[in-house]
Amino acid sequence: MKNNVELAEYLKVRRSVPAFQMAEPGPSRAEIESILTLAVRVPDHGKIAPWRFIVYRGGERATIGEELLRLALEKNPDLGDEMIAVERARFTRAPLVIAVVSTAAPHFKIPEWEQLMSAGALCLNLLMAANAHGFVSNWLTEWFAYDARAHPLLGIRAGEKVAGFIHIGSTTFPVTERPRPALDEVVTWVGGE
Ligand SMILES: Cc1cc2nc3c(=O)[nH]c(=O)nc-3n(C[C@H](O)[C@H](O)[C@H](O)COP(=O)(O)O)c2cc1C
Repeated sequence: MKNNVELAEYLKVRRSVPAFQMAEPGPSRAEIESILTLAVRVPDHGKIAPWRFIVYRGGERATIGEELLRLALEKNPDLGDEMIAVERARFTRAPLVIAVVSTAAPHFKIPEWEQLMSAGALCLNLLMAANAHGFVSNWLTEWFAYDARAHPLLGIRAGEKVAGFIHIGSTTFPVTERPRPALDEVVTWVGGE
């Protein structure tokens, strides 16, 4: 494979954009299909595709927000106005939200850990596939990823896990850099000159 300068330039500046800084337009149905077609090209030991997507679009996102607010109030009836607005807007900050759901399960050869990691790789690939189509993106989980009460309304089945809710849209905010770990803090060299 030859040097891909454009890809290196992209990876040098790749960043997420906070969901609250996202706005319309989101991808069209055809663009979403194209994004997902790129995203599924992800490492997957055993070629078992231990994951799936749930695509949340349109008015259904506001309905989900109302339901999440109801669940949040069940847990904390004293929620303030600001948090009520936050809960309500969980699925309407971005024009498109896609759940990456891990369907990892015991397998005769492939450890569940590797199946889960493939779902994580799928999340990053989806972030980047959205960027490749000119959209910004962000990988979030938030409380409802881990709250079984929320799973039925999000279409998540028993035994499945949420790897991420990938938010996709456009933005007018400048994308700023964030600190990255220094290589000497995270790299151990073994051998070489
Ligand atoms: C598995 C996972 C879950 C995350 N969940 C949240 C979340 O719930 N809320 C949040 O503010 N950020 C969350 N983040 C962090 C955001 O994705 C953040 O925008 C990102 O790490 C920024 O890094 P980047 O610009 O290099 O993409 C999560 C990240 C990962 C990997």
